[in-house]
Amino acid sequence: MKVYSKISDFKIVVDELKSQGKSIGFVPTMGALHQGHVSLVNTSVNECDITVVSIFVNPTQFNNLEDLENYPRTIDADINLLESTNCTLVLAPKADDVYSSEYRASSLNLGNLEQVMEGKHRPGHFDGVVNVVNRFFEIIEPTKAYFGLKDFQQVAVIKYMVNAFKLPVEIVACPTLRETSGLAMSSRNKRLSEKDKQESLIIHKTLLFAKEKSTILNPLQVKEESIIFFNSGSLKLEYFEIVNPITLEALTDTWVEGATACIVAFCGDVRLIDNLKLD
Ligand code: PAF
Repeated sequence: MKVYSKISDFKIVVDELKSQGKSIGFVPTMGALHQGHVSLVNTSVNECDITVVSIFVNPTQFNNLEDLENYPRTIDADINLLESTNCTLVLAPKADDVYSSEYRASSLNLGNLEQVMEGKHRPGHFDGVVNVVNRFFEIIEPTKAYFGLKDFQQVAVIKYMVNAFKLPVEIVACPTLRETSGLAMSSRNKRLSEKDKQESLIIHKTLLFAKEKSTILNPLQVKEESIIFFNSGSLKLEYFEIVNPITLEALTDTWVEGATACIVAFCGDVRLIDNLKLD
């Protein structure tokens, strides 16, 4: 496995591999890697000749400076973990290389996709995600790119972007990996104490509660009951929504195929996100 910090050095190698007809799988990350990322890497390794992992804490997708500063940065441990996989290349660039003077941000109207949930609570977040992912797609030109479904809305946004920009890359959405307790694996879990982790289980329990209730109640009723259930715990709810999986419109009276409950809550100042398909 080779690690590159300069995009120009990395590009020479990746372009050479592409000229040999190798398929490229790409796993974009912000580091602080865990088994969830490893499972994305393994899926890519199984499906593609070459697997590229990027490690870049993208400043433009943080609307809160404190969140950006507190985001865990564990590059040495990340590289060690990737050494244990069959990842081929790691790109860990500096911000001024990603956003060099020649860089021009792309603009994409995401419509409702950026007005709800993460888009509503983190204004500008998806502009940052779209731009950085598009930038990495330009550099790497992957055959396939792998995203975790824990960031459900991000997957919908990236699929929309690929379609809108007609990019020749297949987006592969991979299931959320959970601890045995049910807690969704996340880089942010590194900031939780054991007690915090216990208390954060209310997130997954609320999603399971919603799934159970979805067999007898309509989406709005499930939302209301789930919020009451969630509030029996100690975390602070940011939002709980039951949405159409493609348009992300909130469901009220009627269920649709793939209806998904999405939740964000704070454990102290750690923002945790999760979701579950209900049908
Ligand atoms: O999901 C993430 O870690 C980030 O949003 C991504 C896709 C790596 C872009 O910075």
